[in-house]
Amino acid sequence: MNRETVVITGANRGLGLGLTRAYLEDGWRVIALNRSSSPELESLRNDSLEIHCCDLTDDSHLERFAGSLNGQVIDLLINNAGRMAKDGSVNAGESVQGFGYFNRELWRDVFDINVFTAMSLSELLADAIARSARGRIVTISSMLGSMALNSSGGLYAYRATKAGVNAIMKSMSIDLSGRGIIAIAQHPGWVQTDMGGQGADIDIATSVNGMKAVFDGLRPEDSGKFLSWDGSEMPW
Ligand SMILES: NC(=O)c1ccc[n+]([C@@H]2O[C@H](COP(=O)([O-])OP(=O)(O)OC[C@H]3O[C@@H](n4cnc5c(N)ncnc54)[C@H](OP(=O)(O)O)[C@@H]3O)[C@@H](O)[C@H]2O)c1
Repeated sequence: MNRETVVITGANRGLGLGLTRAYLEDGWRVIALNRSSSPELESLRNDSLEIHCCDLTDDSHLERFAGSLNGQVIDLLINNAGRMAKDGSVNAGESVQGFGYFNRELWRDVFDINVFTAMSLSELLADAIARSARGRIVTISSMLGSMALNSSGGLYAYRATKAGVNAIMKSMSIDLSGRGIIAIAQHPGWVQTDMGGQGADIDIATSVNGMKAVFDGLRPEDSGKFLSWDGSEMPW
């Protein structure tokens, strides 16, 4: 049985919950890091699942979590938690992030979780990940962060955060290669979650199974890539 360990942020719902389920089914040990749990996540509780709840946008909370690992090995970090809109908004809506609607508070909120938490947690867990023979850091990005694929404009804050994580994952792939860590940005597809909506292209299981196959098959030469759920390379 595979006893690798994965840390997944935002594991209480959506893609994070789907990834948690998939890794548990494959025999991994999963550390779910969320700001709060959910009945769905609680229903998966077993010896292989640890649920940590804290404020993911507070570095002192992230530092405490990293400290609690106490020399453990982390094989895979999935920076999944993310949002399109401000806390409390159900849907981003084009108008919220359209040109002429700049809102500093919204941008701070979206950057805080989408970019700052991914960067902070990657730094804090790098030593634990470097202890793995196959250490990997994945940040869930989006095709909306691609310059080449932007043909519709809008969604300024969200697009900027995803372009931002693409940039940081590229730098990490270079800076962490000497420590044997593979770093990639991952597009999950347009997925039927609260964020993606029910009209999205694919369901959670399809996205998660595809992404897991990508993560399982990562080789050092893949580090620094921007990959899609089906393993194809995304244009920057
Ligand atoms: N669904 C898509 O079509 C799609 C496409 C491209 C990229 N993505 C990316 O995929 C990732 C997962 O999205 P999803 O579709 O699963 O969305 P989701 O169903 O809306 O779930 C979002 C997750 O992120 C967490 N999160 C959001 N803001 C947070 C904050 N400030 N602090 C802590 N946790 C926070 C949520 O926790 P709470 O329950 O506590 O809010 C939840 O666990 C995101 O990074 C998203 O940008 C999704």
